[in-house]
Amino acid sequence: MYKNILSENQGSVQIITINREDKLNALNIELIQEIGQEVARLNKGKLVRGIIITGKGNKAFAAGADISEFANFNSKQAKEMSTNGGKVFDSIEASEIPVIAAVNGFALGGGCELAMSCHVRISSENAKYGQPEVNLGVPPGYGGTQRLAQLVGKGRALDLLVSARAIDAQTALNYGLTTQVTNSDDLLPTCIKYIEKLGAKSPLAIAEVIKCTNVLYGNKDGFQYEIDSFSNSFDTSDFKEGTAAFLEKRKPNYS
Ligand code: COA
Repeated sequence: MYKNILSENQGSVQIITINREDKLNALNIELIQEIGQEVARLNKGKLVRGIIITGKGNKAFAAGADISEFANFNSKQAKEMSTNGGKVFDSIEASEIPVIAAVNGFALGGGCELAMSCHVRISSENAKYGQPEVNLGVPPGYGGTQRLAQLVGKGRALDLLVSARAIDAQTALNYGLTTQVTNSDDLLPTCIKYIEKLGAKSPLAIAEVIKCTNVLYGNKDGFQYEIDSFSNSFDTSDFKEGTAAFLEKRKPNYS
């Protein structure tokens, strides 16, 4: 049914796995839409008590948006990518069924943004979170500037956004970006148990808790500003140099 993700039911739990292991689960446009369709399907039928999103393999949750896909985009295409992808990330945040990111390695750029749109983040010891977009000559485009500041505070968010530095699971735990760290083998069982325990609680009340909390962060002006900022960057020489350098496996040379 899907080309880029797997979706497996285990009773009250649905596990969505990003299935591009050879590309470190980089998020192409179609893949993000597939996640959106699956989350919508599960919400429509109220089919499960919790959804887990994870990455295939043990190296990456998702190493970002697919750079090879957007490297030649113009600002109009970038705006469409950011707007449409952003809607999916918003729909995950608004899911009335709790969504848990099982972060099993790199969660960089769009991968970090995807994890942040989930309600809970549980990490394996080798998880690495970061927003390295400034290395490529762009700001984040899937809500990273907004949700990172919401989750860790403005000071720590700007430190990570400006430096492009990735943090390990223990630092993410200290920052409140993740709430639990497990060894790799225990990651999925821990997430499954978390959701199974929700089975004893009111699904209606859980849905209300999610909606109420989202009201606090309901102002979308910053997200729209980020979309404009992201797409306008595609017209700059820094963006062309940054993405070319990644694809040619060399360091960028910014003037
Ligand atoms: N988009 C497209 N392809 C990506 C990718 C991305 N975001 N991240 C990794 N890949 C691909 C690599 O190009 C490589 O493909 P290849 O084997 O066809 O050459 C493959 O995944 C493995 O990645 P590689 O870089 O060889 O692994 P590594 O262990 O040396 O480095 C990272 C891991 C995560 C440090 C490195 O892949 C990286 O910096 N990725 C980009 C992170 C980023 O900038 N994300 C934000 C995007 S907006």
